[in-house]
Amino acid sequence: METVIDSIEQFVLERSRLSFAGHKRDALKKRVKERLDHLNLADLSAYREFLLQSALEESRLLDALTTNETCFFRNPGQFDYLKGQIIPAMENEKGQRAMLAPLGRMKMRILSAGCSTGEEPYSIAMAVLETLRFRRAWDIDIVAGDLSDSCLETAIRGYYEESRLKGIPPRLVEKFMTRVEGGALVNDELRGVISFCQLNLRDIMAGSSQISCAPDGEGFDMIFCRNVMIYFPFAAQEQLVNSLYALLNQGGYLFTGDAEPLHMYTHNFEPVRDAGCLVYKKAEISTNAQAV
Ligand SMILES: C[S@@+](CC[C@H](N)C(=O)[O-])C[C@H]1O[C@@H](n2cnc3c(N)ncnc32)[C@H](O)[C@@H]1O
Repeated sequence: METVIDSIEQFVLERSRLSFAGHKRDALKKRVKERLDHLNLADLSAYREFLLQSALEESRLLDALTTNETCFFRNPGQFDYLKGQIIPAMENEKGQRAMLAPLGRMKMRILSAGCSTGEEPYSIAMAVLETLRFRRAWDIDIVAGDLSDSCLETAIRGYYEESRLKGIPPRLVEKFMTRVEGGALVNDELRGVISFCQLNLRDIMAGSSQISCAPDGEGFDMIFCRNVMIYFPFAAQEQLVNSLYALLNQGGYLFTGDAEPLHMYTHNFEPVRDAGCLVYKKAEISTNAQAV
């Protein structure tokens, strides 16, 4: 039976780059057993056959295997840096033109890759909207993607129970959400700047710049890819870092999770050393790969 689990592990790796080697193998076995029981199939071989034929089952299994833990304003230092440094600098750089430009002409594009149930992109949207001085001069596009369909459903619904609102300063709940029974619902101003879509980082690693809800293939000014890379094998992590680099505009920023510093990989990013948090910059002109 071990060989059947081996082939399911390999299938999951190929389809999502999620690694269940070593100590994570028991978690894979447990989830597969749950799916097998749920479907009332005879044994692991029957489940594998079904999995290989059914796109829906592939999606359900991957959904069951992802770790979706998240919260609003996770890693607050990164949001402080975004509000205190990046947004003011963008307004200064583009701002002179922004004041003169027709409304909505200055573009700001942000990718939340592995957005889970939506707390990350909604936090980014609140941070950006409350910081911009010339809000109406900006066309803001936050693209938020995840592998998990159930996470995306929650994100799109935009309803969060009271206990999940903890990380949000109360004034921002009042400004950007509507209190409803047991929690709060994000308002249209936040929804209006975010597009949610299915995203498999495997495709980004393979060099694709096509993201279904951002079909124009334009570059991003910032990418948040936090607490996702750790679930991939090392080679896939390095591939992802370099593929995200390619998706960023010159001078753009990458935010990673607390346990995801980039110093182990060969890449072209410059760490922002005085930020007090993990944030990396794509230099204006950079050619040589260099580990930092
Ligand atoms: C631990 S959550 C992190 C959420 C958020 N970025 C944060 O830091 O709070 C990891 C998310 O990555 C998603 N994920 C895992 N593998 C993925 C893949 N291959 N493509 C896209 N998303 C993936 C999972 O579904 C999950 O929602």
